[in-house]
Amino acid sequence: MRLSTNTLLAVLPVFVAAHADHHLHARAQQHARQVPAAAPPPPVASAAGSSSQANVVGTTSSQVAASQSSSPAVAGTSTLPAGSSAASVAGTTSSVSSAAVPSLTVQLQATNPTAVPLASIIPGQVSAATHPLPSTAVAGSVPTFLSNAPPLPTITGLLAANYPPPDRPAPTDSPEVQQWIKEVQDTGVVIPQFSPTNGIGGCANNTAAASDASRCWWTCGGCTRSTDITECPTAMDWGLTYDDGPAFYTPNLLEYLDQEQLKATFFVVGSRVFYNWNMLQSQYMGQHQIAVHTWSHFPLTSLTNEQIIAELGWSRKIIKDVLGVTPNMMRPPYGDIDDRVRAISLAMGLTPVMWTRISPLATFDTDDFNIANGQTSVQQVIQNWENIIGNATTRNSGFIVLEHDLFEQSVEVATGYILPDALGHKNPPFKIQPVIHCLNKDMTDAYIETNNNKTNPPAFQAAVSAGIVTVTGTAAGAKSTGKSAAVTSKSTAGSLWSLAGLALGGLMTLP
Ligand SMILES: *[C@@H]1O[C@H](CO)[C@@H](O)[C@H](O)[C@H]1NC(C)=O
Ligand SMILES: *[C@@H]1O[C@H](CO)[C@@H](O)[C@H](O)[C@H]1NC(C)=O
Ligand SMILES: *[C@@H]1O[C@H](CO)[C@@H](O)[C@H](O)[C@H]1NC(C)=O
Repeated sequence: MRLSTNTLLAVLPVFVAAHADHHLHARAQQHARQVPAAAPPPPVASAAGSSSQANVVGTTSSQVAASQSSSPAVAGTSTLPAGSSAASVAGTTSSVSSAAVPSLTVQLQATNPTAVPLASIIPGQVSAATHPLPSTAVAGSVPTFLSNAPPLPTITGLLAANYPPPDRPAPTDSPEVQQWIKEVQDTGVVIPQFSPTNGIGGCANNTAAASDASRCWWTCGGCTRSTDITECPTAMDWGLTYDDGPAFYTPNLLEYLDQEQLKATFFVVGSRVFYNWNMLQSQYMGQHQIAVHTWSHFPLTSLTNEQIIAELGWSRKIIKDVLGVTPNMMRPPYGDIDDRVRAISLAMGLTPVMWTRISPLATFDTDDFNIANGQTSVQQVIQNWENIIGNATTRNSGFIVLEHDLFEQSVEVATGYILPDALGHKNPPFKIQPVIHCLNKDMTDAYIETNNNKTNPPAFQAAVSAGIVTVTGTAAGAKSTGKSAAVTSKSTAGSLWSLAGLALGGLMTLP
């Protein structure tokens, strides 16, 4: 089916409000990268105004001339040092860059003949046509690729009254959230007693938390635990992921993925699923992996335990309502996770999935999110990508890259440049697949209802076995007495966790 323009326009304001106007995303994004704050992003409201006008123009060259902006807005916000001299960067002239900025040439293995020209992938660009959704999702059909999956729910629309307001942390006093809080308590999980971080200003505004290694706070130092998925085990395997959708241009991405027979993992935002549930059904029936990216995309370490449960719970619930299955993986928005968020996620059956980080300045983040708001350029994103694969091809294990399907610009750089380049890489080729497959697991292992739990133990059980979370007594005991220390515990969680942190020191990846 084809999305009507009316649908697109109706959804746009919320979408913009969620991801641009309050600036939180951009700030937390900077905070995740440990770079100085830059100017707030301009609004992107004009971006999808005229959805019917296509500006797709063919290119014939496989060598893409890419200009690199030297504007201050770009410097300091990118993941990778501006002007870094990767082997793949050569030359200085460019036919597509504006004369005003110095340029560089990145040699890509291949580009898509129908790629949108780089010069057109800019903030506030004239919107290209959105493509029809693949017609894979028929209500009531059984996903035959997924043993034991229930039929696809028949949905004609989702009722706003059944969900919290979009794009802000959900209230915690609803019966649903109260039930999820109880379920977390019943696991007996010990949640570390860290005070929530200041969600604005990043590590600089959170000096005590940032220097507290026992938090294992990824944002400030890149700490991970052994249960976090940060890479694919096999060299040249790329766990393909897209965050923050489903959104207007998700169907364009799906069409390209279908054309190239690629499957991805989509970390979806519950508030976006509310508007674009039909896209989610297409993604799922198209055999992409669906995973949780919270209800409203706030930095999780800045929320209370109860709010974190609400963020994960509502996203999990709306996915289940739309697909009939419940994901068992999550990605924290901005990568913002610490041991408190980990404990809650794992107790809710969700394994955290990050993106590969090999040093403080080399996270595998294309920064594609920031083209739409003008904080980075498409040329810089392609440069970031080249640095990522430059490093990826020398690793002994595979990798996971941060990309987004929220904005037109990031979809266009993915389908026009990044994916074609990766597919053109032949000796050896990349194996591009959803995270669940790069872990050598079956798609049935990605959902609670279809996981047989034998070869793929549930997230919480696996984390307890690995010593990543601690339980008070036995979970059963906690249940029968109703005295679990979870959620509002005033127990000795802090010291337990310090000990765990010491014992697990070897598993932490600090810079
Ligand atoms: C946090 O950091 C920002 C700059 O990123 C600053 O403007 C703000 O005053 C800081 N303090 C608080 C309490 O947010
Ligand atoms: C690896 O990443 C770093 C940091 O972005 C970059 O400077 C370097 O050129 C990359 N290495 C290769 C071989 O591309
Ligand atoms: C697997 O474990 C989950 C979570 O503990 C549970 O909900 C589910 O019923 C289990 N499935 C099977 C087949 O045992």
